[in-house]
Amino acid sequence: MQMEDGTEGDMENSHMSHNDPLTLNDSTGENDLIIPPVLEHEDDEGIVYNIEAQEGSTQFFDGYQTETYGYNGSFLGPVIRVNRGQTVKIRTSNKLSDETTFHWHGLELPGEADGGPHQNLKSGESRIIEFKVDQEASTLWFHPHPEGKTSEQVYKGLAGLIYIDDENSGNLGLPSDYGVNDIPLIIQDKKFDDQKQLNYQEAKNEDGTIGDALLINGTLNPKLTVNNEKVRLRILNGSNARNYTFKLSTGNSFVQIATDGGFLNKPVTLNEIKLTPSERAEIIVDFSGYDSSSDVALINEDETILLPFAINNQLIDSGNIPESLNDFAVTDEERNLPVSKKLELFGMGNMVTINGKQFDMERIDFTQKQGVTEIWEIYNKPDMMGGMIHPFHIHGTQFKIISIDGIEPPENEQGWKDTVAIQPGEKIKLAVKFKNKGIYMFHCHVLEHEDNGMMGQVKVE
Ligand code: C2O
Ligand code: CU
Repeated sequence: MQMEDGTEGDMENSHMSHNDPLTLNDSTGENDLIIPPVLEHEDDEGIVYNIEAQEGSTQFFDGYQTETYGYNGSFLGPVIRVNRGQTVKIRTSNKLSDETTFHWHGLELPGEADGGPHQNLKSGESRIIEFKVDQEASTLWFHPHPEGKTSEQVYKGLAGLIYIDDENSGNLGLPSDYGVNDIPLIIQDKKFDDQKQLNYQEAKNEDGTIGDALLINGTLNPKLTVNNEKVRLRILNGSNARNYTFKLSTGNSFVQIATDGGFLNKPVTLNEIKLTPSERAEIIVDFSGYDSSSDVALINEDETILLPFAINNQLIDSGNIPESLNDFAVTDEERNLPVSKKLELFGMGNMVTINGKQFDMERIDFTQKQGVTEIWEIYNKPDMMGGMIHPFHIHGTQFKIISIDGIEPPENEQGWKDTVAIQPGEKIKLAVKFKNKGIYMFHCHVLEHEDNGMMGQVKVE
């Protein structure tokens, strides 16, 4: 390799830059963290929510308007909050000048409502979807999924959260005062050009676009003011490609209480947590031992300050986190099932494949019976350069990780997942069951890999 004179091919360069990602700038903490609004439904009878994809402009920097996309606003979207058991209607409208789709990441709903690339809405079109919420309390999200355009549309600002509440979540006594001690954190990195625009084509990297500016909930240089109490952070890695390892600047531990699709059985104490694109984790940080003079922040593994906390000297007794949160289990039967689907992830840049093939809308790659558990084995085949982590996601289901290279997953991944980070050379077994019928995507959630065809389709019948 001759990197010194910069004459290497583009693919080589993009691969290198991905393994050695641009560093993020520290948050200077001058802006209060934006808390996304919770969307009210319009009609109690049918529980109708309105979601509009729009173009707009957003002020991230004084004196500059950045052209952005958003749901019901100029950047990101509201939180759609629903209860298990409810029948929900969402009126989705495309007010963009481009086509789009509305995908509900992590929701177990019928294929025709899932919002994959088949459910395209042209500019000006709208569609109502209806489904029954039939899964446990969790933090999910929604984003566009038009063929080949997901990465650009998410990058420009299309993403929002979905909260599911159920009886269990209501009874656990966890911090749940929205925006006070129950805080959503949509973590994204962007690259602003000289004019403070998000020029996707300029920033684009075929192996995943990486930025140097961090936005949390669309806030540049955020800080969060908290009371002297336990605070629940619902973290979504909403970045196109960047992986984060979250830690506290004090080195203190925190507890994780939930994975992508529900609560862990019991709180797991951690010093750091890694999230790849589209993964979520709910963690609880105990601020009762700090006061207003404390210097504490959420940082990345390289010590970059992501979110400094300002602490109110107001001691609030927030009680204990219950020892038992859920009854998730991998059964012996699931452990003993033979592998029935094998997937091999390989390649880089725009040559990424699954089982040697790139995405084709007209091709169904697998079929599976509704309600029947199958074992999917996913292998991340290394390349000459070593390869990279692929966050593997399946639509329309929450799955269980059975094993990683034959070994039980770490305690904090023994819960419902819809995305799993697969290291180069790793082989992962998943127990996958679909509650509904339809055609569902599975793909790498590095959004440029998804757009470049590291995606396939399973038909559930
Ligand atoms: Cu987060 Cu195919 O999606
Ligand atoms: Cu990938």
